[in-house]
Amino acid sequence: MIRSAAFASPKINCVGNARPGPVCVTGAGYVGLVTAVCLADSGIEVRLLDIDRDRLALLARGRAPIHEPMLDELLASVLERGLLRLCDDTADAVRGATVVMIAVGTPPLSDGRADLSQVRAALTSAVACAGSDTVMVIKSTVPPGTTVNLRRLCRHDGRSLPLAVCPEFLSEGSAVKDFRQPPQVVIGGDDAPACRRVAELFAHINAPVLITDPTSAELIKYGVNAFLALKISFINEIAHLCELVGADVETVADGLGADSRIGRAFLGAGLGFGGSCFPKDVRALDQAASYHGQTFELLRAAVEINAQQRSRFVAKVQRALRGNLHGRRIAVLGLAFKPGTDDVRQAASIDVIRHLEDLGADVVATDPVARSTAALELPATRMAADAYECVRGADAVVIVTEWPEYRALDWQRVAGLVRRRIVIDGRNCLDADAVVNAGFTYVSTGRPTRRPAATAQAPRQRIA
Ligand code: UGA
Repeated sequence: MIRSAAFASPKINCVGNARPGPVCVTGAGYVGLVTAVCLADSGIEVRLLDIDRDRLALLARGRAPIHEPMLDELLASVLERGLLRLCDDTADAVRGATVVMIAVGTPPLSDGRADLSQVRAALTSAVACAGSDTVMVIKSTVPPGTTVNLRRLCRHDGRSLPLAVCPEFLSEGSAVKDFRQPPQVVIGGDDAPACRRVAELFAHINAPVLITDPTSAELIKYGVNAFLALKISFINEIAHLCELVGADVETVADGLGADSRIGRAFLGAGLGFGGSCFPKDVRALDQAASYHGQTFELLRAAVEINAQQRSRFVAKVQRALRGNLHGRRIAVLGLAFKPGTDDVRQAASIDVIRHLEDLGADVVATDPVARSTAALELPATRMAADAYECVRGADAVVIVTEWPEYRALDWQRVAGLVRRRIVIDGRNCLDADAVVNAGFTYVSTGRPTRRPAATAQAPRQRIA
């Protein structure tokens, strides 16, 4: 189903018999790689263009440089079926392409604005090599107004190529699944046939397609990420209040989420949001609003609360160890910014560990897949191969990423390895009964601290 906010005909049948023509995807990063592989898997001939030859060499061996479920298998399959071609030459990649997707990075500048230099460079060089009926598409996340501004770069040899924007909504750790089952496909552009051509690429996907103007499409992308970040910061403030008044944030979140106008998703209280998207996009949206004279207070509050959440957590660890972290062994379970990925960009783990180490703690950390990416950020931190090795001799066990393997730990076994039985769960992900029954004091977020039965009558030590 195609919803069209900009064009007269809301229904466009894009499930034609003809397979879409060749597509060039520029940028073999997270978005570009997943998009290229998934489009190729649907039977479209895709060329994936990148300037990084080492990355291309790795990809040619069927290995994705990121940890993403199903991606390696699909990559190997589309290479073998001849549907994906890896290119380091723009002319070669763009020649004969009916659509060119720009999926290069938009990293934050020091003031939070998105750096669009890679988008401009990739677009300019692709336009120079494109045919007269090629549709250019911005897949990178760009601030509102960018696509309209970039139109001037689409003139070549006296002609102007259509430019659309098609933001992506993939989540790390479930990117292939999200590509195949998105809540919707959003396309922004002023040229209706060009937008339809882009929509045809997603014809095999059972999702509504919203076609609108480019600036609205850009704002939908930022709006989704910013709104989800607001939800997380909101529940974290509620969690803080729960600790003050003795309520349970999980029950409160269930109650809030049961109202279908709110929904339970992204009401997980804990260490807050990290990753390469939410922190960057919230700041970039704030900057875009400022540029137009608007002070978007809500966004600033969400960022502030998110930062506070990390320091509140370290303070909680400190209280659990009676205020002194000097020389105390802290076992940190989880380094990735969320489970299912080896990405540690803006991860809570980095801030928390640095802070603990600044307070004199002896930190040993582990993660199922993110140890080597985290080691680049934390050169002084010891890494353990697994959770049981990590907790050996620990004065406190700290959960930073809610990997399923940490939920499934044998807490009786952990109890035999640690020096002191204290768990501080930054993601509210453990089975509290299992932890407490193994003799641990269990501190979590927005819930009362639980102590093992033998110590339940002891004078209360305020640690949460
Ligand atoms: C996010 C969006 O969810 C995607 O739709 C979007 O396409 C992507 O950004 C992007 O712009 O590329 P992602 O960064 O992969 O995806 O991660 P999320 O699953 O959204 O989680 C973001 C952060 O919020 C993580 O640190 C996670 O631990 C935290 N979070 C999430 C919470 O603290 N509580 C929750 O209830 C949910």
